[in-house]
Amino acid sequence: MPTPITSRHQGKIAIVTGSGQGIGRGVAVRLAQEGATVVIAEYNQQNADAVANDIKAAGGSALAYPIDISSVQQIETMVSEVVRHFGRIDILVNNAGLNKPAPLFDLTPDLWDPIHQVNERGLFFCLQTVAKQMVAQVPDEVKQQRRAPRSYGKIVNFSSVAGRSGRPYDAAYSATKWAVLSITQSAAAYLAPYNINVNAVCPGLVPTPMWDNIDKVQGTRQGLPPGDWIRQSIDRIPLKRAATAEDIAAAVSFLCSEDADYITGQALNVDGGIEMN
Ligand SMILES: NC(=O)c1ccc[n+]([C@@H]2O[C@H](COP(=O)([O-])OP(=O)(O)OC[C@H]3O[C@@H](n4cnc5c(N)ncnc54)[C@H](O)[C@@H]3O)[C@@H](O)[C@H]2O)c1
Repeated sequence: MPTPITSRHQGKIAIVTGSGQGIGRGVAVRLAQEGATVVIAEYNQQNADAVANDIKAAGGSALAYPIDISSVQQIETMVSEVVRHFGRIDILVNNAGLNKPAPLFDLTPDLWDPIHQVNERGLFFCLQTVAKQMVAQVPDEVKQQRRAPRSYGKIVNFSSVAGRSGRPYDAAYSATKWAVLSITQSAAAYLAPYNINVNAVCPGLVPTPMWDNIDKVQGTRQGLPPGDWIRQSIDRIPLKRAATAEDIAAAVSFLCSEDADYITGQALNVDGGIEMN
């Protein structure tokens, strides 16, 4: 029986990047159900509008905000727009990501660069720009003490099980997901004096449009019919099922809550037991 939805994010302002579909949509819906106002920061405007409307139709609060996070200029504009609208930012979920699987020898700069532009560079400058705003929201007397009595912000970065071990047919993507773990630790240490918590999640297999593409590329490479590669991958999961977006959203909501105030610089595997470390 699913855990009852609380109101633990009541009054908080949350930005969820890439929340127009897949896991990001699940996270946005969950945070809104728990009382947050959610900014749907998404490349695909139509999807952003649809998710924001769904949240509002369910009695929640949301703002669709079309953005390409590979542009630092657009990130800076988004943050100032969100602060102009809502006065503050309490939560950042760095979910937007791109994947173009290819065997190691077939990787070209044209495949490599866009993945790094979004998954690593875009993620980092979203974190940096939002964190500067979160620090600006910390009262001066707290800054002077350099020891904040409570949390002044939550940042959750999306890595992956592919950030835990290498991928011969997905090296560019895997490299970005390892980088996310490093960025998470660096930011957690830098922002600890302000008690801004920075953590990462490492999802396993979640059937989303991103996975449909992976199944197609990897399946074709092995001469498998559509869906077979993903089925074989699910068979290898100790809990014997793929994750749902809600499974990942539950872990993200926890890391954004006061229950996780004493957790920072960590990476939580949400993968049915694929990676046990
Ligand atoms: N699906 C999985 O099994 C899985 C596993 C591990 C990690 N992840 C990670 O979880 C996150 C979400 O994955 P998903 O499966 O929901 O992917 P998805 O492809 O279904 O959705 C990604 C969303 O991000 C948006 N996006 C992409 N580039 C963007 C940009 N430059 N600016 C703004 N928005 C952009 C897309 O428009 C899309 O709505 C990604 O970081 C992914 O790497 C997914």
